[in-house]
Amino acid sequence: MKKILVVLGITCLMAGCTNVSTSPSPTTPPYIEELRALGYTEETIQALQEKLTEEQMDKLTEYDYVAVLLDIINDPDFQVERLEDYLSHYEPGMNGSALVYLINNNISYTYNEKLASIMNHPYFIVKNLERYLNYEAEDVNTIIQVVNSNTDREFYTQIQATDLSKGILLITNKYYQLEEDYVNEDLVTIDSKYSNRSGQKLNKEAYQAFQKLVDAGEEDGVSIRNLSAYRSYSYQNNLYQGYLKDHGQEWTDKWSARPGHSEHQTGLALDVAVKGQQSFDGFENTEEFAWLQENAYRFGFILRYPENKTAITGYGYEPWHYRYVGVEAATYIYEHDITFEEYYAYFVEQEK
Ligand code: DAL
Ligand code: ZN
Repeated sequence: MKKILVVLGITCLMAGCTNVSTSPSPTTPPYIEELRALGYTEETIQALQEKLTEEQMDKLTEYDYVAVLLDIINDPDFQVERLEDYLSHYEPGMNGSALVYLINNNISYTYNEKLASIMNHPYFIVKNLERYLNYEAEDVNTIIQVVNSNTDREFYTQIQATDLSKGILLITNKYYQLEEDYVNEDLVTIDSKYSNRSGQKLNKEAYQAFQKLVDAGEEDGVSIRNLSAYRSYSYQNNLYQGYLKDHGQEWTDKWSARPGHSEHQTGLALDVAVKGQQSFDGFENTEEFAWLQENAYRFGFILRYPENKTAITGYGYEPWHYRYVGVEAATYIYEHDITFEEYYAYFVEQEK
């Protein structure tokens, strides 16, 4: 009899026992059924099995359903030894990578509606989570905007080196700095047809885009020209020091970048004026400006220091200063009414 059972057992293993018994196969661990009952899909269970041990799978059944369990497990910072911490701190609506970040960094927090909307904000960046929590403002959009653009920090503090590998999307502002000897490697001289001043230089790609912009403007009856494009570190330094002497620190920092912090040093930005003018005073009230408002993005340029964004950019409103970022970025920034600071943080720095 014993022998027969053993033989039957082997046959079962080989044939899958389909018509021998209706009880669950002994190879299906009980946690599978329990996970199904909790609400996990077959796909999720399979993916979990690839990452977790039997014992860890079994642990999952002791907790409620975690909607973002796969996000947690697949997060690059997931630590398997903290599995139970993640599970026990999960709340419905939580973002998985945010939860991993909170637990890994032992951050104390209160999970409430506000934190939920921070975590689920379209421009949420997990590495900024602690700063979002520390920034006091009612409005979640403001918190995200301020922290992503670094303006929760004092201007010219915690300065980082500009990441030149970002090419036309590199950033320089009051938190990112170019080396003193940095010169864009692709500078070309702007033809007098496009400039009110001679000998001005611009990055080649930006210049080609600017030529197209000016030509398209002319077809529509406006005459946009360059006034000031590439400026070296030392040129910017002289400019800044001159303003400082004449106008004092506050005014100067509002209107002029400190050396190493100016977009003019990148060769990707320029100040424009109406044809023949040596000043951009009153540019805001010209047809040229109105045309740029509608069309600059189509050529890859953005108004870099808009009127309603001075707290974010750190500069006064400059209707004349345009930055080349390429058509894709310019279109996004234009359509979503965000600053380059915000775009950079979300789409460039973390390479979404
Ligand atoms: N006026 C802009 C901010 C500059 O100096 O680069
Ligand atoms: Zn400028």
